[in-house]
Amino acid sequence: MYKAKAYSAASATSPLASTSISRREPTEHDVQLEILFCGVCHSDLHTVRNEWKDMMATVYPCIPGHEIVGRVTKVGSAVTKFKPGDIAAVGCLVDSDRTCPECRAGLEQFCPNATFTYNAQDKHIGGVTYGGYSDSIVVTEHFVLRVPSNLNLAGAAPLLCAGITTYSPMRRWGVTKGKKVGVVGLGGLGHMGVKIAHALGAHVVVFTTSPNKKDDAFRLGADEVAVSREAGEMQKHAGSFDFILDAVSAEHDINAYIQLLRRDGNLTLVGAPPKPFAVAGFGLLFGRKSLAGSLIGGLPETQEMLDFCGAHNITSDVEIIPIQKINEAYERLLKSDVKYRFSIDMASLKSE
Ligand SMILES: NC(=O)c1ccc[n+]([C@@H]2O[C@H](COP(=O)([O-])OP(=O)(O)OC[C@H]3O[C@@H](n4cnc5c(N)ncnc54)[C@H](OP(=O)(O)O)[C@@H]3O)[C@@H](O)[C@H]2O)c1
Ligand SMILES: [Zn+2]
Ligand SMILES: [Zn+2]
Repeated sequence: MYKAKAYSAASATSPLASTSISRREPTEHDVQLEILFCGVCHSDLHTVRNEWKDMMATVYPCIPGHEIVGRVTKVGSAVTKFKPGDIAAVGCLVDSDRTCPECRAGLEQFCPNATFTYNAQDKHIGGVTYGGYSDSIVVTEHFVLRVPSNLNLAGAAPLLCAGITTYSPMRRWGVTKGKKVGVVGLGGLGHMGVKIAHALGAHVVVFTTSPNKKDDAFRLGADEVAVSREAGEMQKHAGSFDFILDAVSAEHDINAYIQLLRRDGNLTLVGAPPKPFAVAGFGLLFGRKSLAGSLIGGLPETQEMLDFCGAHNITSDVEIIPIQKINEAYERLLKSDVKYRFSIDMASLKSE
């Protein structure tokens, strides 16, 4: 075991503050990273504030962060893919049983024994796992990813959650050229969804509650933008979408989007507001529409997404912050005031 610096929350109402934690020394199959950048996902905020207490209660102290890019500092004797000095990344998963049908299908996110990067049982040293708001992390090789060398590292970090969470359902539901795709909520996930759908060749329509994001939406790759609070702007698209990705973090009416789907169209939820949705069944019946969910992505698809982003030169639009600004960043996230992902420069932790 060794000591690492980190930022943690002591309770659902405490601000995040500097702390010191124990990490395991890398074992045979482990890779140790010096964390360079960590993206700030709205899931970090939901978890820190225990907003998902009914589904997965938060264990404190909580150290969030699952959009991690870093430099390899040590590898175990059996590691083959990485060597010290390499740039590597870690997303939302750090372990799984590797043997169940989900793991064998490369869908480790659905493994009944999956270990999430933070707030999950730590099978190595006990307690809970601690995430990327830290200066280092130790992860078994299978869960460490390669970052294409052309990508800017601060902007690549958010691909590890926001990127894969939007890429995976788009691949699953066949987003390609000729498809009309909606993206609801232009936040961290949403702006990645726009970039990826555009790169896949789709006709992309952004739905936003923030009229001031219109110009950005076009710049990010949208073909059309609708302000969702304007009934006329919604109605114009009735019955026309092949696929809509809902990436909203707060309570809202999903029936308004179901009615925008064409026959056999699909609305996939990736946003995870804590309160259940009300769904009008009739909206799905007429037109044989479907409502689905999607959770991050497995390791093979996460690497595929990173390589896709490398080939298309896609990174997240980030505002780089020092870790000392994290509590302020959370308040701004709640006001939809981020363009479009905070990425923590972990060098800032050195002064703590
Ligand atoms: N399924 C998964 O695997 C997965 C993975 C990561 C995150 N998530 C979840 O996905 C959600 C989004 O995460 P994020 O990091 O992208 O959050 P974010 O950056 O805060 O973006 C959320 C966006 O939702 C819109 N929004 C916020 N409040 C709203 C309201 N009251 N009504 C309508 N729209 C509203 C805003 O977009 P506009 O300003 O454009 O309206 C906002 O920018 C969170 O719930 C997060 O936990 C799920
Ligand atoms: Zn996330
Ligand atoms: Zn498994």
